[in-house]
Amino acid sequence: MTSTIAAYPGGKHTLAPLLVRFMPNLSRNISGFGGMANEILAMPQRKIRIYNDKDKDLCILLSCFAKEETRVKLFHEILKYEYCKENFMELKAKTSSGYYGQVEIWVYAAWVWYTLLVSRDGGREAYSKDKDMEMGKNFQHRIMGKKWDLMRLEGIGVWNKDIYDLIEEEIQNPDGNQTFYFLDSPYYGNKASYKYNMVSDFDHNLYCKSLVKLKGAIMVCGYDNNNLYDEILVKKHGFKKIKLGLYAVTMGYHQRGEKCKLETECIWINY
Ligand SMILES: C[S@@+](CC[C@H](N)C(=O)[O-])C[C@H]1O[C@@H](n2cnc3c(N)ncnc32)[C@H](O)[C@@H]1O
Repeated sequence: MTSTIAAYPGGKHTLAPLLVRFMPNLSRNISGFGGMANEILAMPQRKIRIYNDKDKDLCILLSCFAKEETRVKLFHEILKYEYCKENFMELKAKTSSGYYGQVEIWVYAAWVWYTLLVSRDGGREAYSKDKDMEMGKNFQHRIMGKKWDLMRLEGIGVWNKDIYDLIEEEIQNPDGNQTFYFLDSPYYGNKASYKYNMVSDFDHNLYCKSLVKLKGAIMVCGYDNNNLYDEILVKKHGFKKIKLGLYAVTMGYHQRGEKCKLETECIWINY
């Protein structure tokens, strides 16, 4: 299994090797809700790989990983920081107003990456206390351990669009029928701390009704109990539903020592 950029609410790091088996071999691939790009890291090389996320901070981080020059500077920069609460609080505050050219882009990307790595479940909200990391050099080793795997992000395109705009544009795109759309939205009813979320029945209704207009191959992720997807995607539009098995719920915090809740992960595909 490849390394992940960082833990993340709803991140598909564990599931990605299985998801890849169900992905079609098309030359153009778009990940509509990119997060930590776990599916891109796991999939075989493709001619065109596009990462999209509405969260601009994540797009800044991913665009630095996508080019060798900025990736090297980003690693150099993040290795300056020890694992500690003071650094977390400082960099969380420094990223709270977003990027407006205050420092070089890879310096800002390092701040974003640090807040992901050092926060609880990658939520960028609360500090994740870790005595071993705080005492030694394990944090730097952990980061260096990601270096080779994250080179797989070289050359990806990075978009910072709202999924509804992306879908509207792709419906008009003549390359759309040669495209694989991987759609791992925030799940219906989730409790994650995303900057942009999709939680309600209204959001997911609108989302499903738009995505079915795409002309390429589509894979949608969600939990088995999502009747809305069954109604719209399966019954009305002939998608197949595949149950992948029980996995830990990661969209929301769990307390230390608390047992992880499990849910059945599913995909809905139109091919
Ligand atoms: C479940 S996560 C994706 C996880 C990703 N597959 C991974 O393994 O790392 C959902 C992502 O959707 C993004 N998002 C939320 N609303 C969005 C919208 N309207 N358009 C595009 N991205 C959105 C969030 O910022 C979040 O990063």
